[in-house]
Amino acid sequence: MTIHKIGSDIEKAATFLKQGKLVAIPTETVYGLAANAFDPIAVASIFEAKKRPHFDPLIVHTHSLEIVQNVIVKHFPEKAIKLAKAFWPGPLTLVLTKNDKIPDLVTSGKETVGVRIPNHEMTLKLLKICGLPLAAPSANPFGYISPTTADHVLEQLGNEVEYILEGGECSVGIESTILAFEDEKPVIYRLGGLTIEEIESVLNEKVKVVTENEENPSAPGMLKSHYAPKKKTILLEKINSEIANTYPLDTAFITFNSELEIDDKCRNKVLSVNGDLKEASSKLFSILRALDKSEYQTIVVENVPNKDLGLAINDRLRRASF
Ligand code: TXA
Ligand code: MG
Repeated sequence: MTIHKIGSDIEKAATFLKQGKLVAIPTETVYGLAANAFDPIAVASIFEAKKRPHFDPLIVHTHSLEIVQNVIVKHFPEKAIKLAKAFWPGPLTLVLTKNDKIPDLVTSGKETVGVRIPNHEMTLKLLKICGLPLAAPSANPFGYISPTTADHVLEQLGNEVEYILEGGECSVGIESTILAFEDEKPVIYRLGGLTIEEIESVLNEKVKVVTENEENPSAPGMLKSHYAPKKKTILLEKINSEIANTYPLDTAFITFNSELEIDDKCRNKVLSVNGDLKEASSKLFSILRALDKSEYQTIVVENVPNKDLGLAINDRLRRASF
């Protein structure tokens, strides 16, 4: 019924967006559920489609630094410009003071706006053609795992979107790193596809990480349970064969790069045989979704090495299993 909704017609996507409709867009991180950021009614339908609470602000996407400067933010501090020039297009969202042209609904009434230039050829073209900044959260029901393929979007939000732009599998596979400035000091609100080291190397200063704040979440990605499968999900520091064999046969495992001596080895989903964190992040959400749909009753995962992209992966595993 909804299969024709997936396609690679950028013009069509642009037309729908200009009409105030919702279009799912590919990015290098995850698929987004996009609407014209200047149109409060279109933006309201994003919240409705995702069943997203209105206190959770959206990220605005564009293809150009000038647009960020002229219509999205009020001030573009020196440090932010430095990061933008180094990492855009790419998996970095900057939280900056918002321009009055951005409706309050987009930012949930905050004085700041999250903004990024995504690194995906089709979506960059789309942004140019439609000439509008696009407000877009990840294209999943609130609290669930983010989508990394067009089919993931179709499965859950097929009835809510007008069109899904087919841009293949997301290359990064984990959401953008969100960075704000508090008293001009850089603070990470969400670990993501850009590593702390990369950011620090450009800023030449230490970056604080504040990713858990249940009372007053600056970014709801900070909620302890988020990005979560429906199946019971257990996080262990390490899974070995002995541990795996203590679980019933309807348990599936996600390991970083371990072979397990278990009955029915298909139950072990390996994130990266070669122990590559990039490969692991690009596969994680697809594997979680597939297992969530499968006949297995429990998912047991292990932490990946806690460095580089591994910090963001472990963050998602923690929230998925909370
Ligand atoms: O990689 C990504 O960032 C993807 C793609 C589609 O760009 N988008 C994404 O959006 O993950 P979403 O809405 O699922 O997560 C955005 C996070 C939310 O936790 C939100 O609270 C935070 O960004 N955020 C947005 N604007 C903010 C602001 N002004 N201050 C603090 N946090 C903000
Ligand atoms: Mg999300």
